[in-house]
Amino acid sequence: MIRVKNIIKSYGNKASRFEVLQDISLEIEEGDFVVILGASGSGKSTFLNVISGLERPDCGKVFYDTAEITALSDDELTAFRGKKAKGAVSG
Ligand SMILES: Nc1ncnc2c1ncn2[C@@H]1O[C@H](COP(=O)(O)OP(=O)(O)OP(=O)(O)O)[C@@H](O)[C@H]1O
Ligand SMILES: [Mg+2]
Repeated sequence: MIRVKNIIKSYGNKASRFEVLQDISLEIEEGDFVVILGASGSGKSTFLNVISGLERPDCGKVFYDTAEITALSDDELTAFRGKKAKGAVSG
């Protein structure tokens, strides 16, 4: 299960900040088939990068089952991604 809680992600600097993900929360159960729809630039790739641990949100939490990946260090996150990628290949 993937659980996303109150994710906010913005790009830019203080002078010009663009909030791409504005308080996103959802749950994806094992076996769910999910489609992410939105216009170009609406934040689909940003969302996928955040829930896969490639990018960190400004705030909010991402859980895989009971593990909170937003609480992991960079090294722990790299190990986690490696483990999950292997799992995807071997089933
Ligand atoms: N690394 C970045 N630095 C600054 N702005 C970014 C960065 N990545 C994305 N953006 C901006 O965030 C917004 C969302 O981009 P994103 O790539 O997530 O959209 P998308 O829905 O995947 O678009 P597309 O359908 O074209 O793939 C856009 O305005 C984009 O310019
Ligand atoms: Mg995209």
